[in-house]
Amino acid sequence: MSERLIRGRVLTFVAEPQGIDDTASYRYFEDGAVFVRGGKVVDAGDYADISKLAGADVEVADHRPNLVLPGLIDTHLHFPQTQAIASYGAQLLEWLNTYIFVEEQKFANTVHAAAVADRFMDELLSNGTTTAVAYCSVHPESVDAYFSAAEARGMRMIGGKVMMDRNAPDALRDTPQQGYDETKALIEKWHGRGRALYAISPRFAITSTPEQMEMSQALVAEHPSCYVQTHLSENQDEIAFATSLYPEAKDYTDIYARYGLLNERMLLGHCIHLSDREISVLAETGSVGVFCPTSNLFLGSGLFDRDRFDKLGARWSVATDVGGGTSFSMLETMDEAYKVLHLRGQKLTPFNSFYRMTLGNARALGLEEKIGSLHAGADADIVVLDSSAKPAMEYRMRVAKSLMEELFILQTMGDDRCVAEVYVAGKAMKAKGVKRAAAPSRSPEPA
Ligand code: GUN
Ligand code: FE
Repeated sequence: MSERLIRGRVLTFVAEPQGIDDTASYRYFEDGAVFVRGGKVVDAGDYADISKLAGADVEVADHRPNLVLPGLIDTHLHFPQTQAIASYGAQLLEWLNTYIFVEEQKFANTVHAAAVADRFMDELLSNGTTTAVAYCSVHPESVDAYFSAAEARGMRMIGGKVMMDRNAPDALRDTPQQGYDETKALIEKWHGRGRALYAISPRFAITSTPEQMEMSQALVAEHPSCYVQTHLSENQDEIAFATSLYPEAKDYTDIYARYGLLNERMLLGHCIHLSDREISVLAETGSVGVFCPTSNLFLGSGLFDRDRFDKLGARWSVATDVGGGTSFSMLETMDEAYKVLHLRGQKLTPFNSFYRMTLGNARALGLEEKIGSLHAGADADIVVLDSSAKPAMEYRMRVAKSLMEELFILQTMGDDRCVAEVYVAGKAMKAKGVKRAAAPSRSPEPA
């Protein structure tokens, strides 16, 4: 069984940090190590102790002075939108119609879907993300491409076929029965195969008829161990349109509640413009509101109100929402999260940011026994971060005085260049060459 000692400055959380430097919320080992065997963490701690446990013959990957953390987790993004990031000039509904529903049609082609899936997984890994929850396109083959690419890399990935049967181009619509049958077959094929987990994925209330919502309800009832994902309250025009399609519902949240879709495995993208009543319904059902800061800024959607989620006891997670989101990097995502909350008069501490990207998101997925921290028995999904990867960061780091300051520099200035290595189930993915496209040799000519 393959064994390895991963040496560096080890940081892992055990609880949600309260206040600016809640030292009880994390374990930090300045000269630390993680002992990995057969894809699992045997133990993590001081190098002196862990190296004794590992024995003299063990292979050592020495990452000093870099930080060693659990792999980062992204709780909402769109795999078919990998090449549609940075589409100009529109808010949500116009953006979907102009760019996204055009792009997603390309995934009828299985060769294209497979190529993008490979690129998507490699992009996640080069950003230090080892688990993500993604929407695939309406085509079942796109789900096969997605989980096949994840399986080839050994990654724990969650995803599902988008269901939509109205307000989308013909080529992207299924029917309630087809959405049900295809989802069911995909669950049977992929849910629990290796590290794959399935998410039942009605896109949002606008693109599903009441009949499709009923089919989604049946799928959720028949497959209680599957995740459920959709979008909620992202944009004012979206809210008006959705609620006009379901006039019997009290509000947007009530549409999903009426179809029995709200539970502790439900991930609701955005949740920006919710009333207290709606957030309380999320709290009562254990549903998770997903904060997507780069997307919410890019599409001009609005500012997530974290404090109201906390006050009303509702769960929340963080995500990139690529391609409405503008970066695969969870570091860049937390940088924007900090700024969004700042505009709301709310603070996001550096320790809380790093908690959120790791254990916090793992808890939102109910996967904290397996991922998000480096406890004994956890899956050995690990990221190594270099806080001085860019010249400006190295210069800034010369005067940094604490771990807290370093984490804030990493999140504020960092990106994929800071990911020195990433391990998936104990295997070094970067050393093997995380594939990168060659940079263009020169800038495009001016138009
Ligand atoms: N609402 C419904 N579909 C989408 C999507 O693809 N991206 C975003 N940001 N919002 C959505
Ligand atoms: Fe989304």
